[in-house]
Amino acid sequence: MKKVLTRTALATVLAFSAGTAFATVKVGFMLPYSGTYAKLGEAIENGFKLYVQEQGGKLAGQEVQYFKVDDESNPSKGPENANRLIKRDQVDILIGTVHSGVAMALAKAANDSDTTLIIPNAGADAITGPLCSKNVFRSSFSNWQPGYAMGSVAAEQGHKTAVTISWNYAAGKESTDGFKESFEKAGGKVVKHLTLPFPNVEFQPLLTEIASIKPDAVYTFFAGGGAVKFTQDYAAAGLKDSIPLLAAGFLTDGTLEAQGASAQGLLTTLHYADGLDTPRDNAFRENYKKNFPQLPPDVYAVQGYDAAQMLDAGLKAVNGDVSKKDAMREAIRNARIDSPRGEFTLSKAGNPVQDMYLRKVEGDVNKVVKVAVEKLADPARGCKL
Ligand code: BEZ
Repeated sequence: MKKVLTRTALATVLAFSAGTAFATVKVGFMLPYSGTYAKLGEAIENGFKLYVQEQGGKLAGQEVQYFKVDDESNPSKGPENANRLIKRDQVDILIGTVHSGVAMALAKAANDSDTTLIIPNAGADAITGPLCSKNVFRSSFSNWQPGYAMGSVAAEQGHKTAVTISWNYAAGKESTDGFKESFEKAGGKVVKHLTLPFPNVEFQPLLTEIASIKPDAVYTFFAGGGAVKFTQDYAAAGLKDSIPLLAAGFLTDGTLEAQGASAQGLLTTLHYADGLDTPRDNAFRENYKKNFPQLPPDVYAVQGYDAAQMLDAGLKAVNGDVSKKDAMREAIRNARIDSPRGEFTLSKAGNPVQDMYLRKVEGDVNKVVKVAVEKLADPARGCKL
């Protein structure tokens, strides 16, 4: 009897004879490529691809095939955009996103379809809190983490009162809540929380209110294009020299060239800093600059790079077979990631347990001052894993 091989069967036979059973892993980027967070999305994709390129273009012997969707940082389009990658493109792994509200929709779609998701930025506390699940991981932070670190620093510096100001969505609320928790535990008092809708940048009325309250310090969460406008307006309102501005490091990461003098001297807390001067970080920065000479090697690039490292750890454990989901996820959860930020592990909830740095803006860098809190783990409140 004459045997006829289908194209798929033939590809499988060829792959086996070449020593690899699975030819490609399909990676779907759901990131903002437009709007106030566009540069953040670009840096994440760059970082991810840089790591893959350093491995010779493959992860665990698999070619990586990329798919992408611009989520516009728009939560209402989240389910539809996620399903483009899950149902239309049938990706094996989701990488996304930046905005916490969009990430909530993406995590739900990942859970519903049992797809592995690595979040390379969005810090929504709930995703590694009450909504934690075995298929979802972060290579970044929880919104609580940088805020909590800065609350301790503010109290250490002797500030007694603070006003917080942020966009009115999960990231702003949770970042300022983290600050309030440690600041008040150390005896400080948050006297007012000011907000405006995302991504508005009409800061003037709120800055007038800060000037009339005269707190010892201001703590803020803004990022991307909005962060640039905020530091410029804060300085123009004459507040920079009278009321210290403290922030989650997103305020000054990847934005310093545009912020110019308005950001000089600002203190922020984050899980990455310039000037770490470790062999691992120096090598990453050199290669990033070689490949993307116009862009700073910022925290977003690091988070993209580490998302690829996490996926690599998972794929290696299953010899590239993405269908072995449980074993792959187990390996990701137990991985030690040799990050440019410093080595980190993941909590049971899938969030990095990592050092939080205090940084100071000097020229075009966020210079490390010290480790503000060592190996800070998000409390993962409500996670039942
Ligand atoms: C967030 O929405 O979680 C987020 C966005 C930009 C920077 C940091 C956090």
